[in-house]
Amino acid sequence: MSAYVLDGAVVADATIARVAESARSLGLTPGLAVVLVGSDPASQVYVGAKGRAAKLCGFHSLQFDLPETTGEGELLALIDRLNRDPAIDGILVQLPLPKAIDSSRVLEAIDSAKDVDGFHPVNVGLAASGVFERALIPCTPAGALILIDRACAHLGAKLVGMEAVIIGRSNIVGKPMAQLLLARNCTVTTAHSRTRDLPAVARRADVLVAAVGRPEMVRGDWVKPGAIVIDVGVNRIAAPERGEGKTRLVGDVAYAEASQVAGAITPVPGGVGKMTIAMLMANTLVAAARIKGLAAPKF
Ligand code: GUN
Repeated sequence: MSAYVLDGAVVADATIARVAESARSLGLTPGLAVVLVGSDPASQVYVGAKGRAAKLCGFHSLQFDLPETTGEGELLALIDRLNRDPAIDGILVQLPLPKAIDSSRVLEAIDSAKDVDGFHPVNVGLAASGVFERALIPCTPAGALILIDRACAHLGAKLVGMEAVIIGRSNIVGKPMAQLLLARNCTVTTAHSRTRDLPAVARRADVLVAAVGRPEMVRGDWVKPGAIVIDVGVNRIAAPERGEGKTRLVGDVAYAEASQVAGAITPVPGGVGKMTIAMLMANTLVAAARIKGLAAPKF
């Protein structure tokens, strides 16, 4: 049997519509500043999509395109200015940054109340302590969790007590995903490149999250029958079948194989990626509401 396909685009559009409506009813025009350093083509695509979504929500949206040669001091000065700008509620610095810049220093410089990526140590600490009502939660795992809840609703399953295996231990996805699933009472394993017998560990999972950046690494026989499979990978690979020099996007999961075994699965593209942007809009509205002392909506 074929898995239930978790359509990220549909859920993301509904989330964005709710964010726009909540902003209107709160009388807020949240301001989002997105900073891109350098000209990485994938980052340019992501940043463009973030700005377009912000405009769709009726937000005040600013994009700063800085050259690859930007110094750390210059970037820190821009962040300081945005921290003090009352029209800005959310600040996002697109990663990865050029090697000459210390990313942790930059992320720490962002006012934690405006840290809509949830990467500041204060927000990381609040999430690790389970204080979600005051934390800002990283967008990709927050979006993945909404899709996991959808899958559970569709399958008539309860997330509580499930075995969750996350492949990948990044600060952006793997670690915060583990915190979120732990807070939802899953039994969580964070696997990674040094994990012994990764296929066997993956096969234990009722919820399998792949976030490693290796095209189609998770094979069909790594998936427990009926499992919820969340593919966070976005990998561009050669597609000679489409013509010379053509490429296509694939996830970290071999979709054709895994979708024959899983109970529910996210496609790439059109799965988690769309949710990341929707949750960024949600976080920007939450940040704006908190800054203004209003009750923040929940997404
Ligand atoms: N690079 C890849 N994912 C992300 C993200 O969620 N936020 C930022 N700032 N950079 C990223």
